[in-house]
Amino acid sequence: EPAHIPVITIDGPTASGKGTLAAGVAARLGYHTLDSGSLYRVTALAARSAGVAPEDEAGVVAIARAMKLQFAGVVVLLDGVDVSEQLREEQIGAMASQVAAHPAVRAALFDLQCAFRQLPGLVADGRDMGTVIFPVAPLKVFLTATAAARAERRHKQLISKGIPASLADLRADLEARDARDRGRSTAPLKPAEDALSLDNSLVGIDASVQQVVDWWEARLPFG
Ligand code: DC
Repeated sequence: EPAHIPVITIDGPTASGKGTLAAGVAARLGYHTLDSGSLYRVTALAARSAGVAPEDEAGVVAIARAMKLQFAGVVVLLDGVDVSEQLREEQIGAMASQVAAHPAVRAALFDLQCAFRQLPGLVADGRDMGTVIFPVAPLKVFLTATAAARAERRHKQLISKGIPASLADLRADLEARDARDRGRSTAPLKPAEDALSLDNSLVGIDASVQQVVDWWEARLPFG
């Protein structure tokens, strides 16, 4: 394990603003990012394209092992095709949560996630970044935000893209996903014991980024 390469982990529920916070912190520090949810999303998309059901653990594992991925900033290429937009679909998010509940699927994506740890450092967001993938990360953040605030955030995002959406449906969907992500036996969503928690519904994005950068600077230097 490249212990000398610093990692900041940001875990939290659906639509808590993890991605935006991770990108902001990474930009401030000049670090790389890992959007681990996109790996479960692209697995779900590849499975759907191949006609493999999310319940079919062995089938999804075979898909995860065979898919050819390329990453360029926030762009994800699956077999050479830019699927970044498709990955954001609500249906893909829900399928991602289903495929992510399979331990063998999580194991199949383990090495890929570790490979994102490169100099000068990494900001990784997801559900189990601090608990399973980077358990020795020097700074772990657990984001919280009420279901109402998260549904509203997702609703605004969709409406601004011209995608019609119902606030009540979105809230029901994200509560169902949270329940599955928290309740699964392998790598459930939960704060690492040494995580610092940040409520993203109380402060704006700039203040959240500043908070994480302050925490980070207070931990420097390592070793
Ligand atoms: O963060 P997101 O909404 O893009 O993630 C989509 C789904 O992927 C989420 O509902 C659960 C799963 N996931 C996971 O199990 N572990 C991660 N580290 C990241 C995402």
